Amino acid sequence: MTDTPPIDLTVAPGGSLTGRLRIPGDKSVSHRVVMLGSIAEGVTEVSGFLEGEDALATLRAFRAMGVAVEGPAEGRLAIRGRGLHGLTPSAGPLDLGNSGTSMRLLAGLLAGQRFDSMLTGDASLSRRPMGRVIEPLTAMGARIDSTPAGTAPLRIRGGRTLQGIDYRLPVASAQVKSCLLLAGLYAEGRTCVHEPAPTRDHTERMLGGLGYAVERDGPAACLQGGGRLTGRPIAVPGDISSAAFFLVGASIAPGSDLLLERVGVNPTRTGVLEILLRMGADIEVLDPRESGGEPVADLRVRASRLQGVHIPAELVPLAIDEFPALFVAAACARGETRLTGAAELRVKESDRIQVMADGLQALGIDARPQEDGIVIRGGRFGSGRVDSHGDHRVAMALAVAALRAEGPIEIRDCANVRTSFPGFVEAARSVGLEVEESS
Ligand code: S3P
Repeated sequence: MTDTPPIDLTVAPGGSLTGRLRIPGDKSVSHRVVMLGSIAEGVTEVSGFLEGEDALATLRAFRAMGVAVEGPAEGRLAIRGRGLHGLTPSAGPLDLGNSGTSMRLLAGLLAGQRFDSMLTGDASLSRRPMGRVIEPLTAMGARIDSTPAGTAPLRIRGGRTLQGIDYRLPVASAQVKSCLLLAGLYAEGRTCVHEPAPTRDHTERMLGGLGYAVERDGPAACLQGGGRLTGRPIAVPGDISSAAFFLVGASIAPGSDLLLERVGVNPTRTGVLEILLRMGADIEVLDPRESGGEPVADLRVRASRLQGVHIPAELVPLAIDEFPALFVAAACARGETRLTGAAELRVKESDRIQVMADGLQALGIDARPQEDGIVIRGGRFGSGRVDSHGDHRVAMALAVAALRAEGPIEIRDCANVRTSFPGFVEAARSVGLEVEESS
């Protein structure tokens, strides 16, 4: 990924969010459609693909491994799958930019190839823990070299014979689950991944949709190695993780009434709806339907008075990427919001507990970070300058906070918004957020 110049956002205080918005494609589904379409037989026609930097990094990686792809053009792709064994070695390292999903899922898929691969990423990705995939892949027979700290770059040796594994995830992680299921496609025998709590199941759904049987055995997802996938059309739903900024923004800004169209509402992703509803949000789920093997709906959200809540641990994996936005909701709620059991937030694109606590405190909110969570007391946002630490979701969460601020909020280091939500500034402006970009 080429280095991008730093971008800051400045958001004017107040206002409301009104109108309708089409949320860009789901990032998790967009990664998987490229990966699985590439190893399927035949063509996978995709619509609604997220043209954000993270999914584009995955696309570049598969093109570098010989996959012919037409597009993306306005979210459309045609992936000419090469079958399970048709990828070819890339001429150089695969640079996955800021994308943890690309690196962890590819580690599994590439562990089963006949050729060696090298995976690299930006400074943030190079700090993120990869031991969680290296350890079980090694137990399957893979050979992966990392830094002594268990971080990227990763060198993945090809030509290994993998054995199926029966693995209990020590942390609830869809990335680790998906990594092992992808390795399991290439393994001898059966691979079963047991989850301590349900996590997003897009990999399992899409494998099933492409004709590869995945069995659900209680808390385990299991598959048999050596099958085949068949390409077919897939429509990617809008990303509920991107919708989250607008769900929170419209909830906290008096006078708001916003319709978010065709948002993915897979039950393994709707923790944000559940938490906001518990806080007293006014959100209607309209016209529920199916698209590309995933449930979708339109979400109508109107301003409401929010109440602080204790967020139960079982909702954490179902809302794992939405906490920066939810912390802003908590800062606007009456009383205290308490989150525990969320230590994973410390190893995302930034340490989201610390970085959000710093941002909220700088804006005058009583936010107390805990080892595995945070306690936030609702208050009033002042104004000032905050730092996203290069974290796209922190940047967008702090931007919508301005809807309830006393003065402008300036957010530094926001270029990575384009990893998950290209066009965020234009989309937010179109429904009433007065946000400007400067470099
Ligand atoms: C993702 C899983 C989650 C999430 C990430 C995307 C995926 O990570 O935070 O943004 O697409 O599988 P973990 O599985 O590490 O919790």
